[in-house]
Amino acid sequence: MSQLSKDFLWGGAIAANQAEGAYQEGGKGLSLMDIATAGKKGVSRQFTKGVEKDVYYPNHEGIDFYHRYQEDLALCEEMGFKCFRTSIAWTRIFPHGDESEPNEEGLKFYDHLFDEMIKRGMQPVVTISHYEMPLYLAQNYGGWANRKLIDFYLNFCKIIFERYKGKVKYWMTFNEINSVIFMPEVAGVVDRSQADFKQRSYQAAHHQFVASAKAVQLGHQIDPENKIGCMVLTLVKYPLVAKPEDVLLAEEKMRYGTFAFTDIQVRGHYPHYVKKLVERQGIHVQIEPEDYETMKNGCVDYIGFSYYSSSAATTDETVEKTGGNIVSGVKNPYLPTSEWGWQIDAKGLRYILNRFYERYEIPLFIVENGLGAYDQVDENDYVEDDYRIAYLKAHIEEMKNAIIEDGVDIIGYTPWGCIDLVSAGTGEMSKRYGFIYVDRDDLGNGTLKRSRKKSFDWYKQVIASHGENL
Ligand code: BG6
Repeated sequence: MSQLSKDFLWGGAIAANQAEGAYQEGGKGLSLMDIATAGKKGVSRQFTKGVEKDVYYPNHEGIDFYHRYQEDLALCEEMGFKCFRTSIAWTRIFPHGDESEPNEEGLKFYDHLFDEMIKRGMQPVVTISHYEMPLYLAQNYGGWANRKLIDFYLNFCKIIFERYKGKVKYWMTFNEINSVIFMPEVAGVVDRSQADFKQRSYQAAHHQFVASAKAVQLGHQIDPENKIGCMVLTLVKYPLVAKPEDVLLAEEKMRYGTFAFTDIQVRGHYPHYVKKLVERQGIHVQIEPEDYETMKNGCVDYIGFSYYSSSAATTDETVEKTGGNIVSGVKNPYLPTSEWGWQIDAKGLRYILNRFYERYEIPLFIVENGLGAYDQVDENDYVEDDYRIAYLKAHIEEMKNAIIEDGVDIIGYTPWGCIDLVSAGTGEMSKRYGFIYVDRDDLGNGTLKRSRKKSFDWYKQVIASHGENL
């Protein structure tokens, strides 16, 4: 057997804030990402206090998916997508975040978007919160460290679960929930410059766990057909050498970086080692008595995760470091590296799939994977992206090994940035992941015209052959 099941959800993934643009249309409020400036390779994005004149904000226009989604989804249909992952911009539904009544125009936009996907044979896969905190909540309530956020988020969930009942079945509560610890200023809106930022990041994480568990329960009540998952960024770490200290360190990094989060969201309680970590650091997290019950009753149905690269771990501090998605690590001499310094490791995908499945035995969903690379477009608007094909082919092969050889249950595969979009980390357009090229540069110039890359036809035949022709 070398084909995957006919129900396997092949597709692609984007996020509202990196693609939609139209940041002031349809009654939308400002989100945190609307004040994120453009960075570049090796230079992080900054957050201004508000929208400032003469500053370029790449997410304001994104790739104009808001106006061009029909054309984009038609191209995805041409590739044979069975699903399409995106997020709902919280600020289109609740411009400030603390209103009691939603913005009807925002709700209508997603009605049309999901209808268009369904019409074209794609299941919508929806991330409820993908780095989309309303700026008003960030500035007036202090972000996720404030317990009030749970109610605002739940109100948002209630409205969208009710409105899109029957249209959306697959949901994820928070994109890369573990980034609240690695990148608290974005994922939890915790100010790093304050002395107690660590304490506040942990508190923000707790509030997100409670909010997620409540959302799972609510989503199941509203529609028992709903499948509601968590979404984590995976830290895959190998010991640099067979030294027991390195083995333990690699395991510790994976445990605190990834498994702590899935343990909590899949099993519904804080594991023993998290309690010890918090104790050791002298951090007090305010947990209300009812939170334990909430977390226990709000376990997720599946694990969604992103996987781009792996790195090594060692106690030797003199060795060379390497980049990665949000979290960096130690360079592994056996792996090649992308142009952004992320190490390419297809076998790491099989490894993490098995680690998750052995530990939890619930379905997994690979909702992000891909290669950010510079593309050269020729005079016919064509990109020969053999490097991207090679990356995806190797990862799909390992995913198939996990399914066919190891028996891991995987719902689907949605490569990241199936249409070129604004990079979350750097705000660049030139860090491209897509099968579809978008004519736009890092300064906002370009026609936004879409064109098919070589990988477009390649992925089309992968889907048509159920993963057999790679
Ligand atoms: C993940 C995010 O961290 O990685 C995406 O969920 C992001 O939003 C993706 O775009 C790739 O990272 P980057 O920085 O290359 O855009």
